[in-house]
Amino acid sequence: MTSSKIIGTGSYLPEKVLTNSDLEGLVDTSNDWIVSRTGIEQRRIAENESTSEMGTKAAQCALEKAGLSIDDIDFIFVATCTPDYQALSTACIIQNALGAPHVPALDIQATCSGYLYGIFLANSLVKSGTFNNILVIASEKLSSITNYQDRSTCILFGDGAAACVVSSANQAGLKIRNLLLGANGKFATSGFVPAGGCKTPASIDTVNKGLHYIQMTGNEIFKLAVRKMEESCKKSLEACGLQVSDVNWLVPHQANLRIIEALAKRFGFPQDKLCITIRKYGNTSAASIGIALDELMRNKNIQPSQNLLLTSVGFGLTWASGVLTYQNPL
Ligand code: ACO
Repeated sequence: MTSSKIIGTGSYLPEKVLTNSDLEGLVDTSNDWIVSRTGIEQRRIAENESTSEMGTKAAQCALEKAGLSIDDIDFIFVATCTPDYQALSTACIIQNALGAPHVPALDIQATCSGYLYGIFLANSLVKSGTFNNILVIASEKLSSITNYQDRSTCILFGDGAAACVVSSANQAGLKIRNLLLGANGKFATSGFVPAGGCKTPASIDTVNKGLHYIQMTGNEIFKLAVRKMEESCKKSLEACGLQVSDVNWLVPHQANLRIIEALAKRFGFPQDKLCITIRKYGNTSAASIGIALDELMRNKNIQPSQNLLLTSVGFGLTWASGVLTYQNPL
């Protein structure tokens, strides 16, 4: 089996900032409520940029960090639940923008777990020797499916993108020790966009009823998120033969600070081992864990043998957890 590592990460956040006080002007809410119930202070909004444009920029950062050009890439995965178009993969649009004709390109729809699903697939293809370098991108324009008249959802979501290169190259990077994936469609209607798919195609009626926006049962998702992340983190650590005390950084999906703190409490993780970006960016779905990972790699001095535990839960329900260990070249 070939060895596989993440050898470069990147991210992109649009410039426009939507603060809690901006939201106070749109819905009946307050900065105090949002901060105390979610931890979010602000989020970024893509005004004129699409999911593919943000994803392309994040991918360019990851390629630069990896020291590769687009010509080195064998496959492109794009995790998103906010594609540019229906019936056309955003991966194809990004492939064209990056100038990689003939490279296969595929969208992954696994909501907030999409980035880890993409890394899982890339890791399997690299380890099997099928490909050498795979670009995994997660990009979301959640503002396009957010109802800014619904205070229970509009406070949560933001836009942004992340990317990484999964590679067989013998250079420093994050070795993918394991990734465990899961899903349970029983919870499909706990959070979703009801209209716009073939079951309920877009119509004047669906637009009038706001069915093209995210709808969710927030407290149900909250409890499921804590439970599923705890379960899958435990399984992932066990599979690697690691203890909680071996983990240097917990990099969780950024849905709600209280979800992250509840998870940390169950494991006894100290606050200074938590990778938190939700205050600045809110929940960016598939991109959230990638943005957090990229900020960690840029801002903390990650050393060889340090272990990162990644975990996510998203609509579907989907979940994923895994351990990455920083390694120098052999
Ligand atoms: N401002 C003020 N009050 C509010 C707001 C708001 N923005 N939103 C809700 N409230 C009110 C409610 O109306 C309710 O009032 P009531 O008691 O008079 O009925 C009260 O606050 C409590 O509402 P809850 O929904 O019970 O509040 P909760 O503490 O559960 O927080 C939240 C809601 C923030 C949505 C939380 O449940 C959550 O974060 N859930 C997880 C959501 C999530 O992660 N979703 C994304 C999944 S990821 C993906 O795939 C995209």
